[in-house]
Amino acid sequence: MSATAPALVFPPLAVVDGNQLLQSLPLPVLALDGENRIRFANAAAAQFLGLAPLGRLLVDIFPADSPLFTLLAQARVEGTSVADREMAIEAPALGRRLIAVDVAPIPDREAWLSLTLQERSFTGRLDEALTRRGATRAMGTLAAVLAHEVKNPLSGVRGAAQLLEPGLDEAGRSLTHLICEEVDRVVALVDRMESFTDEHPIEFGPVNIHRVLDHVRKIAEAGFARRRRFVCDYDPSLPPVLGNRDLLVQLFLNLVKNAAEATEEGSGVITLSTRYQVGLKLSEPDGGRRYLPLMITVQDNGSGIPDALRHCLFDPFASGKPGGKGLGLALVAKLVADHGGLIELASEPRRTQFRVLLPKAAEEEQA
Ligand SMILES: Nc1ncnc2c1ncn2[C@@H]1O[C@H](COP(=O)(O)OP(=O)(O)O)[C@@H](O)[C@H]1O
Ligand SMILES: [Mg+2]
Repeated sequence: MSATAPALVFPPLAVVDGNQLLQSLPLPVLALDGENRIRFANAAAAQFLGLAPLGRLLVDIFPADSPLFTLLAQARVEGTSVADREMAIEAPALGRRLIAVDVAPIPDREAWLSLTLQERSFTGRLDEALTRRGATRAMGTLAAVLAHEVKNPLSGVRGAAQLLEPGLDEAGRSLTHLICEEVDRVVALVDRMESFTDEHPIEFGPVNIHRVLDHVRKIAEAGFARRRRFVCDYDPSLPPVLGNRDLLVQLFLNLVKNAAEATEEGSGVITLSTRYQVGLKLSEPDGGRRYLPLMITVQDNGSGIPDALRHCLFDPFASGKPGGKGLGLALVAKLVADHGGLIELASEPRRTQFRVLLPKAAEEEQA
């Protein structure tokens, strides 16, 4: 910017009318009073519900046994915000839909709640998680085929090269070495893919995630993340994760490795943080509920995710690096899924965040 350019002046914030702001939001937002009567609805909500909702009771729109009402009651009882990322609803005005629901108490209004509804395709999150699971399964089959059809013959190739060696001159021997090295490289690749098919039952127990993160940081500092600065921002009261220690190390090692590779020596900063987050619940296919209150974030100040990779980031073989295998995040997605967790991405240049949501160990498991 030239030195003569006028400074940007923003009007005072009070000029933005909160009501206008809510009306312009593309997200359906409702306010409900203690009887679940709709006292406010923005334009997106009216459109979503396909009717003029103001003043109506929610039970006139949704059947009384809808899980929506359980969630509303829970928010009132607990006095906190609650969410369901995948709620199946059925209503005469809406038909059958899968939606993501967020409910939060409105301060200063006894029993009033704000309610936001999003078509699930908007949130995309679970769709993605499920696709990822599908991708890792496909990968498992592929690995099994490769192990059988490629790895076994390769050991024959390697053996044959070694048998040839004694009769060869220097130049010939350097070629047999090359054969062995390349065979080893392919076998290592197949081995890595095979870890996707690992069907051994995983042992889960209470794991101190801060110890896992510190361990990962030490490995990283000693090797691939030299000359990157680490910032640890831990919630000291965080309860243990329900997980498998070794797999969690593998998971976070992959995220930290990517963070290191996206940053420059000297200026790279990798932040590891943990938070307790009330409210995020997932519906299970069997109708049960899953809570994922532990949030672990790996953030870096590097290049950001390349646009071309955003839609397939967690797919096997998607890589933006010369020589990259593109298996790191596919494995991360599998490990997160094995833990019943979720992974979310927020990326802009100089600020890339992978947020991993995990379940906590039950009290009796901790004891
Ligand atoms: N923290 C990050 N910052 C920028 N890009 C990233 C980050 N993590 C992953 N990526 C991108 O995602 C791609 C896939 O990552 P991954 O599956 O670990 O495979 P690989 O690291 O072998 O390329 C990377 O090549 C990179 O382009
Ligand atoms: Mg990687």
